[in-house]
Amino acid sequence: MTQDGSHAIDVLLREKRLYKPSAAFQKRARIRSLPALRSIIARARRNPPGFWAKAARDIQWMKPWKKILDWRPPHARWFVGGALNVSANCLDRHLEGPRRNKAALIWEGEPGDSRVLTYHELHAETSRFANVLKSLGVRKGDCVGIYMPAVPEAVVAMLACARIGAMHNVVFGGFSAQALRERLVDSKARVLVTADGGWRRGQIVPLKGVADEALAGAPGVEHVVVFKRAANAVGWVEGRDLWWHELMLAAPRDCPAVPVDAENPLYILYTSGSTGKPKGVLHTTGGYLVQTALTSKWVFDLRDEDVYWCTADIGWVTGHSYVVYGPLACGATVLLYEGAPFHPEPDRLWSIIEKRGVSVFYTAPTAIRACMRFGDDWPRKHDLSSLRLLGSVGEPINPEAWLWYYRVIGGSRCPVVDTWWQTETGAILITPVPGATPMKPGSATMPFPGIEADVVDRQGRPVKPGKGGYLVVRKPWPSMLRGIFGDPKRYKSQYFDPIPGAYFSGDGARKDADGYFWVLGRIDDVINVSGHRLSTMEIESALVSHPAVSEAAVVGRPDEIQGQAITAFVTLKAGASSNAGLKDELRAHVVRAIGPLAKPSDIRFAEALPKTRSGKIMRRLLRELAGSGRTQGDITTLEDFTVLSKLQSGGEEES
Ligand code: PRX
Repeated sequence: MTQDGSHAIDVLLREKRLYKPSAAFQKRARIRSLPALRSIIARARRNPPGFWAKAARDIQWMKPWKKILDWRPPHARWFVGGALNVSANCLDRHLEGPRRNKAALIWEGEPGDSRVLTYHELHAETSRFANVLKSLGVRKGDCVGIYMPAVPEAVVAMLACARIGAMHNVVFGGFSAQALRERLVDSKARVLVTADGGWRRGQIVPLKGVADEALAGAPGVEHVVVFKRAANAVGWVEGRDLWWHELMLAAPRDCPAVPVDAENPLYILYTSGSTGKPKGVLHTTGGYLVQTALTSKWVFDLRDEDVYWCTADIGWVTGHSYVVYGPLACGATVLLYEGAPFHPEPDRLWSIIEKRGVSVFYTAPTAIRACMRFGDDWPRKHDLSSLRLLGSVGEPINPEAWLWYYRVIGGSRCPVVDTWWQTETGAILITPVPGATPMKPGSATMPFPGIEADVVDRQGRPVKPGKGGYLVVRKPWPSMLRGIFGDPKRYKSQYFDPIPGAYFSGDGARKDADGYFWVLGRIDDVINVSGHRLSTMEIESALVSHPAVSEAAVVGRPDEIQGQAITAFVTLKAGASSNAGLKDELRAHVVRAIGPLAKPSDIRFAEALPKTRSGKIMRRLLRELAGSGRTQGDITTLEDFTVLSKLQSGGEEES
């Protein structure tokens, strides 16, 4: 963080386009106009706990709460004294009415196989597996590791933990043995649920093999339950390893959901972001469910007839909140896809949307930009008319990508909800409410009702409209993290010490004159050129608006004169040729879009950019490369190691 108290970031890029929700969408929306939304926001502002208490009435409680909020900064407890069960809310309550035989999960396997589980079936599987966990000695408060491909059994395992009051720690199936081991040890997992393998890009990912390697250093894990998915050969430790299907055959069908305290831990999820040691973010039960359910209903406008598809893996928070808990609490039909988005062809996403009639689609800017790179012909081959709402999450979406998504995928008829939130926030905090909020491409628009977000300086004072600053949340919200597992000091020092009186997100942002928020990316990614702090995101956005550019990552490298000089790593669209002429053209393009200050000193063409497994560009590595030519530090979260070695060996397509 910078020392300067006056302002944090200079804002250079201005996006003026405005898109209103269509009259057709508005007519049947839950909140139909901006004035209606503003009045809900104003009411919630007068009494935030009252607003959330009203939302909590949509959830089934087994025991009513005594106090809505107990706030002893920086620690919050919500719905104090209340008891409920998340699995009962996601399953049992739907069995009483017409949702009983409705599809809860529509699953598409990568090789082309598929399955549908109704709410009745998902409930039965979950109850049986909850009994399996009990038979393995898992008790309330214990932790279960889940290292699975995206198959229905991963969802079953999560819901089964919740059913008996145990917590889960889902580790993304693409993580290495070392990353899995660290997370199992840190979370004190007693049981690991995994699979023999999962399909990705036509290959089998040998999950059980990786798990075996991880378990060699995780002696606390007593049992491993193995789901048979890919039928690949696996090693076996007698007494420790057990087949899912054998245990399920023996398990009773009936397992009542236990009442747990509203503050009972629901899960730990490790987040590394792009720097530092992974943090075990802890989420609890009542507040988390209330907020994920309400945001699913209002932001995704979920209806019984929708087929809702969030492409995030269940290993990320988006998979927890918006594949599993929020949508199932709303009784939605959730689509789950096992594999890679461009396998066997770049139109896999569009072909699934057409096949299943997906109506609400939620994905990440990195996926959208990759799709743009493949060109419009792939989506145009498919009937995407079932879509009625689109969403984006994970990074700032640059206006070019937003517009492409809106026009080519949404046929200019679907609102795009650009949702800002974090693993730590548990649920969406800043977002359009479709049907009510006019959208500006690249802006996550306004805080959700009940959320007091602001853009401030180092002392916590609001900065003027149009000025860059630090994105904070001033009041507690129900789904906020309750701590860092095993590291209480870090919770305070990381999130509450930096800015007085507020939760600090780590992001930079600005608010415009209409009160719209523009997230500028991680504050660590800000660069300082001749005393001006620039958001790398804005320069990247300018580069990507050039027709030849597919993706861009901008970092600073030390420079004697300017302080930092701008280095841009650029990948090109198919057919564009990298040459010195293009470099000059791109520089000129940035100058036109933003100004001479933002002109990149170096432009390096690359085949691909180093990314975390959730698709975020690892700018730290690029910063190191641009500075010293080498990288150091943790790279366990890197998705594709060859990308880095190509960049390091100068293997980029230099002109
Ligand atoms: O920098 C912001 C960016 O992603 C960070 C949170 O990452 P993670 O904990 O992995 O959770 C991702 C899914 C919620 C934020 O601090 N981010 C997320 N959504 C947006 C975003 N940046 C801009 N616009 C968004 N819509």
